[in-house]
Amino acid sequence: MNPMRTLLLGMADSPTCKRLLTGWGVTRRVVKRFVPGETLDEAAAAVAQVNAEGLTATMNPLGENVANEATATASTNAYIEILDRIAADGLGSNISVKLTMLGLDLGHDIAIANLRRVLQAAERHDNFVRIDMEASPYVESTLEIFRELRADHPKVGAVIQTYLRRSGDDIEALISEGASVRVVKGAYNEPPEVAFPDKADVDRNFVAILDRLARADARENGVRVAIGSHDPAILAKGSELIESQGIEAGWEFQMLYGIGKQHQRELAAAGHDVRIYVSYGVAWYPWFMRRLAERPANVLFFLRHLFG
Ligand code: FDA
Repeated sequence: MNPMRTLLLGMADSPTCKRLLTGWGVTRRVVKRFVPGETLDEAAAAVAQVNAEGLTATMNPLGENVANEATATASTNAYIEILDRIAADGLGSNISVKLTMLGLDLGHDIAIANLRRVLQAAERHDNFVRIDMEASPYVESTLEIFRELRADHPKVGAVIQTYLRRSGDDIEALISEGASVRVVKGAYNEPPEVAFPDKADVDRNFVAILDRLARADARENGVRVAIGSHDPAILAKGSELIESQGIEAGWEFQMLYGIGKQHQRELAAAGHDVRIYVSYGVAWYPWFMRRLAERPANVLFFLRHLFG
């Protein structure tokens, strides 16, 4: 893995780096590029703007790994409040949730009970919930919880990370279940036994998984696909598959707020569904470090602000 990426992902988990970096005004200015605000009001305004540009959104209140049940309940209530707000404002948005925010570190039962409450709220509003995929120790339990709840609440989706060696097998299972799948490269610091260390292998696996998802059996099973990437080669592959396989519905592109705007516009203009992942809140530190790790130019941008 690229040493800069390893360093930045290590810093994402360091309380000392967090204390240092979040104290700087310059960090906040750079963060604004990716995070439209700290409150639900600011996030709702950003989603309204995204909708006005002809795109849909998925809203994500920042945070992960809550340490006690009271915080997990508060996060659950916050997700439900977002669903209520989307309905009240008539926003074109669903939500993306993190199971460690719903208490996964405290136990399977707590996370599942909290997610069930979120899914019930989504159902009341006829909305959809995507379960983000976190670091590899959580993958198995996340997929288990996804399956357990999907039996009662079908409007829930999973995420597959193409850097994981296991992702080909997971995709086969999800195809047989007719699941809704977001495909992404993967954003965490993973050991080589678990994840491909070479970016070229991650990219190749992404293409192979998209090819697999476009096959007739997946579509017959009702599989829905979200391509979560800003990589021009992956976006071109997605467009090519949609056209060559005559896919008329069920596939969309997803990008992070503030990244790849030109691609967002071009894909929407070409008639594709494009959804923007809008993160907001005060707990932006680890999320921001993962965005820096994804692109060295972001670090240069940060340094320019620091010294400029
Ligand atoms: P890649 O990293 O190869 O970047 C391709 C190009 O895109 C870069 O050259 C640059 O131009 C642009 N780009 C990419 N990242 C950028 C950045 N941070 N700033 C500026 N430009 C950037 N991960 C995960 O582990 N679990 C999850 O649930 C999700 N969910 C998710 C949802 C959505 C909608 C997206 C778009 C991404 C995720 N991710 C994720 C993150 C994902 O795993 C991955 O880390 C990033 O999308 C970066 O990978 P790309 O596919 O963009 O390609």
